[in-house]
Amino acid sequence: MTRVIDGEELNIPEHVAIIMDGNGRWAKKRMMPRGMGHKKGADVVEQLCEDADDLGIRYLTVYAFSTENWKRSEEEVSGIMNILRKHLLGSIDRSVKNNMRVRVIGDKSGLAEDLQDTIRTLEEKTAHCTGLTFTIAINYGGRDELTRAARKLAQLAASGELKPEEIDEARISDSLDTAGVPDPDLLIRTSGEMRISNYMIWQLAYTEFYFTDCLWPDFNKEELIRAIRYFNGRERRFGGVKNV
Ligand code: FPP
Repeated sequence: MTRVIDGEELNIPEHVAIIMDGNGRWAKKRMMPRGMGHKKGADVVEQLCEDADDLGIRYLTVYAFSTENWKRSEEEVSGIMNILRKHLLGSIDRSVKNNMRVRVIGDKSGLAEDLQDTIRTLEEKTAHCTGLTFTIAINYGGRDELTRAARKLAQLAASGELKPEEIDEARISDSLDTAGVPDPDLLIRTSGEMRISNYMIWQLAYTEFYFTDCLWPDFNKEELIRAIRYFNGRERRFGGVKNV
């Protein structure tokens, strides 16, 4: 899909994945506790869903909490969980109103019961929505997701429901938490770090990467358009050769 933005015709990526980094540094620069950075970061996510939808993006996937983030202080972990709790609960009616489907990927069984209930409600109440699909990765790790998928497939094989030779790439994709969602076209990571930190390691195989020094709480629609412009300058070949 293309859109004219500021007089320029841009090809809009169907699926944008984001690693929201730099909340702690943003807060430190302002002599604030790290939690304030996460709080502002979550507000940015809310606005960004509207901006992404506005621009014609169909899928937006954000990395909110990784399987490794449990190593942070108890205070910080519970602070992030409380922010997620508040935002997820508060976003049920707004998501339905905005026709936004919300999904959570990651190992939900490792989350507090009440958070699991809220996620279930949010997913059920927005399941019919046909606008932006907003996916939040919580207690998510790419290797953990692949491990869980391998286990599911092995169980099917052990029970005789699946032959090992029937396992192909499509079957693996369909066994991941992201089943049914196309692979990301564009990955954005903020705050100047250049690594993927165990994020969607299977799904990012052919994704274009955009890194920016902008700290997550400062990210906005203008930054998103900058990333889309960069994406437009790339030529995706999916391993093929350039057509001349
Ligand atoms: C990375 O910054 C950020 C996180 C680990 C937490 C991100 C979580 C949110 C913004 C809440 C998400 C909310 C919704 C509604 C989905 P960092 O702490 O690693 O920053 P630093 O590298 O500067 O220390």
